[in-house]
Amino acid sequence: MKGIILSGGTATRLFPLTATTSKQLLPIYDRQMIFYPLNTLIEAGIKDILIIVSPEHSGQYLNLLGSIFSQNKIRLQFKVQKIPRGLADAFIMGENFIGKENVTMILGDNIFEKNFSSEIKKFRSGGLIFAKKVRDPERFGVVKFDENHKAVEIVEKPKKWISDFAIPGLYVYDNRVIRAAKEVIPSERGELEITEIHNFFLEKGELQVSEFSQEWLDAGTFETLLEAGKIVKEKKLYEKFNPLINEAILKFNQELKILAKKRLI
Ligand code: TTP
Repeated sequence: MKGIILSGGTATRLFPLTATTSKQLLPIYDRQMIFYPLNTLIEAGIKDILIIVSPEHSGQYLNLLGSIFSQNKIRLQFKVQKIPRGLADAFIMGENFIGKENVTMILGDNIFEKNFSSEIKKFRSGGLIFAKKVRDPERFGVVKFDENHKAVEIVEKPKKWISDFAIPGLYVYDNRVIRAAKEVIPSERGELEITEIHNFFLEKGELQVSEFSQEWLDAGTFETLLEAGKIVKEKKLYEKFNPLINEAILKFNQELKILAKKRLI
């Protein structure tokens, strides 16, 4: 299983914060947001990870993450997405990286309390996405279930209510996702919609949708950014990171301190 973190985008809803840095490098309490999706993938046992970033912030990502995992078993690669063409573009950009394997893609601004390790380890083929009950489904890709809790319809930001179940930004697909992504036609808003990929697998009867109840936040607005920080602090989520990440951050901090001292002398 390969992992992709989609961490580009324009983050217009967070202007002016994102005029100077990437949304996913903004702080969530004591660490940059990007460590959360990275942790979700590492906790799921994924070691090969591609981080897709926007051109203006690629240097910042390299500074933060480029060397801190060099000593341990995590292999990070970076790729620049010149134009934010939509979520499904991750699989086209990641074609060579994915090779012949399955892939889990996570959005760089999604923070999950849940550990997805057992679901991802069990995954064999088709598609696996998740569902979470929300109060504002019109903001998300939404899935409708029948009376047997089988997914029957998926709609991107529905104008007319179909269900309260939003689809969070963590998607697991088999290798056919690359072909599916290449077939997607840009939507009215000009994006390659991830919903089209879900529907590719749903139509074949090969899409599994799993509901969960733990916290999920997409930290893309001022409110959710603040809320994410608060929840992380209240629930002490920063203490529940994989040791590989905590060790890497600790070592990075020590290096920074040495450099800071040298500057002072
Ligand atoms: P969005 O929140 O939909 O888009 P955005 O981050 O550009 O923000 P805004 O709507 O405020 O302008 O993106 C969800 C995640 O996917 C986020 O982490 C950015 C990432 N993304 C890309 O990396 N490339 C893309 O082409 C798109 C559309 C999003």
